[in-house]
Amino acid sequence: MRRILVTGGAGFIGSNFVHYLVEHTDAYVVVLDKLTYAASPEALEPLPADRVELVEGDVTDTGLVDSLVGSLTGAEDAVVHFAAESHNDNSLRDPSPFIRTNIVGTFEILEAVRRHGVRLHHVSTDEVYGDLELDDPARFTETTPYLPSSPYSASKAGADHLVRAWVRSFEVAATISNCSNNYGPWQHIEKFIPRQITNVLAGGRPKLYGAGENVRDWIHAADHSSAVWTILNRGQIGHTYLIGADGEQKNLEVVRMILSILGRPEDDFDHVTDRAGHDLRYAIDPTKLRTELGWEPQFADFRAGLADTIEWYRANSDWWRPHKDAVESEYAARGQ
Ligand code: NAD
Ligand code: TYD
Repeated sequence: MRRILVTGGAGFIGSNFVHYLVEHTDAYVVVLDKLTYAASPEALEPLPADRVELVEGDVTDTGLVDSLVGSLTGAEDAVVHFAAESHNDNSLRDPSPFIRTNIVGTFEILEAVRRHGVRLHHVSTDEVYGDLELDDPARFTETTPYLPSSPYSASKAGADHLVRAWVRSFEVAATISNCSNNYGPWQHIEKFIPRQITNVLAGGRPKLYGAGENVRDWIHAADHSSAVWTILNRGQIGHTYLIGADGEQKNLEVVRMILSILGRPEDDFDHVTDRAGHDLRYAIDPTKLRTELGWEPQFADFRAGLADTIEWYRANSDWWRPHKDAVESEYAARGQ
């Protein structure tokens, strides 16, 4: 049986990928996750124990990472590396766990796959490229220069550079993907879309940074998962693939859509203090992934995917409600 080690597999996208593996493949999945505040091990609970095993541990733990990677002895076995500190606002408050987990953690993964000759797919973000002007006709491609703006995106850029260097200098068999902003079930309520949905569901108002002119390129997490699996199996070693689903939206429009789906007036939100160094626009040109590997997203209609996501948060309030007040008081303390 093919074994896949998924780091960060109890997080928002990692757990979606583990579900994808159980539903679409016959692989045995080992999840390595530190179970930080961002983890949702509940997301893995419905999965069968003979297919998925959860190991609580840190990607910076050299011995643990070595033993888990060393147990991948089949020719098709692989590591898919999602584990990261992932929220820009947290990285502005305290960059230190971002440097440890995202850079040192990736270094430990790289050294282990080098020692044991194991295939690696490294999951990264389009934020490594910095931002675009609103009217720039160009989108990010695989050759866009790196220009990260925040401690989060700089730490992910650092990790990407390590992967590229280990491929070139040590012939590690790795691919990299840089994906745009994800949405869907199980995303932590500190992030933009779930924060606004749960604000409304909890009887409050959405909080928009600045004027809300910033643009993000939204993709459903399930489409990210299918893209990662496609790249792991058919991507060329040493190559980078950008993952996106042509989903550009202004933040203001997303807030209006959430309010309209929930039957509230479209101006029923607050403008709050903007984020320091706030990137203006992200946009992915996914041509390489689509033409070279034939990948297609399944969630083409953003409003429909958003409506499904809103329904999921409504049905799963037991999961997010206990954390809502603490998350909001952290934001309120920063005027956000
Ligand atoms: P998340 O914060 O929801 O989950 C991260 C997971 O990693 C959590 O389960 C956490 O417990 C685990 N983790 C953190 N530090 C760890 C450590 N030291 N050792 C082991 N596990 C650790 O993040 P996400 O949104 O699911 O993002 C997953 C990956 O996808 C990240 O690498 C992120 O950079 C990338 N990405 C995210 C997006 C997005 O929109 N969320 C877009 C593109 C790329
Ligand atoms: P976020 O989900 O933090 O993702 P990223 O910073 O990785 O793009 O934020 C998405 C966008 O939404 C970003 O432009 C910041 C903005 N935003 C708000 O307007 N209000 C909020 O409460 C949050 C959390 C984000």
